[in-house]
Amino acid sequence: MASVRPVRIAPSILSADFAKLGEEVRAIDAAGAEYIHIDVMDGHFVPNLTFGAPVVKCLRPHSQKVFDVHLMVAPVDHLIGDFADAGADIITVHQEAGPHLHRTLQSIKARGIKAGVSLNPSTPAATVAHVMDLVDLVLVMTVNPGFGGQSFIPLLDKIKAIRGMIDATGRAIDLEVDGGITPDTAKQVIAAGADVLVAGTAVFRDGPEHYARNIKALRA
Ligand code: DX5
Ligand code: ZN
Repeated sequence: MASVRPVRIAPSILSADFAKLGEEVRAIDAAGAEYIHIDVMDGHFVPNLTFGAPVVKCLRPHSQKVFDVHLMVAPVDHLIGDFADAGADIITVHQEAGPHLHRTLQSIKARGIKAGVSLNPSTPAATVAHVMDLVDLVLVMTVNPGFGGQSFIPLLDKIKAIRGMIDATGRAIDLEVDGGITPDTAKQVIAAGADVLVAGTAVFRDGPEHYARNIKALRA
């Protein structure tokens, strides 16, 4: 049974002006974003650095929308508590981040928040088959994580496979896609079964007065 769920947009604040992050979060909230996608990079699992839990804590009062925290960090287990305490609603870890994915997901769930698992482009869908009962979100990366503004990798078969795995559970698990999402690639991933779209470049282009237009263009 195919799920019929509205498409939700998750602007990645990686593309925001870091000198005014609170203002930027308020602007994408007002522009209609459902999720605030927060990219945490450690300079080790991915070749770039962003910010940690203290920044998430400072942003929390700026929006009531879902804080969707994407941890591109390894090892990751020791940081789960900090991000949960900072106000994350969903914590997503990478399948590739450590040998004990099941335990990591259990530790997120034990905090009373939602747990997500993310797959790098080269990681097969089947590698998350045995944790589907623990996840609330599966994130399919359509770029190699680390940077905004990269070109979309057309992993449509993988998105379809994950859609099948989610539907087989009968549970409301988000299928999120992240990387190179534009109005054109948005159509393709929605058709393949995605229902949460992360977009950095495509949302933050042309300044705050265009965020609502940019978000709307991704839903169409
Ligand atoms: C990449 C991040 C993405 C990134 C997407 O490692 O996980 O969330 O910000 O940026 P765009 O939409 O520019 O590809
Ligand atoms: Zn991300």
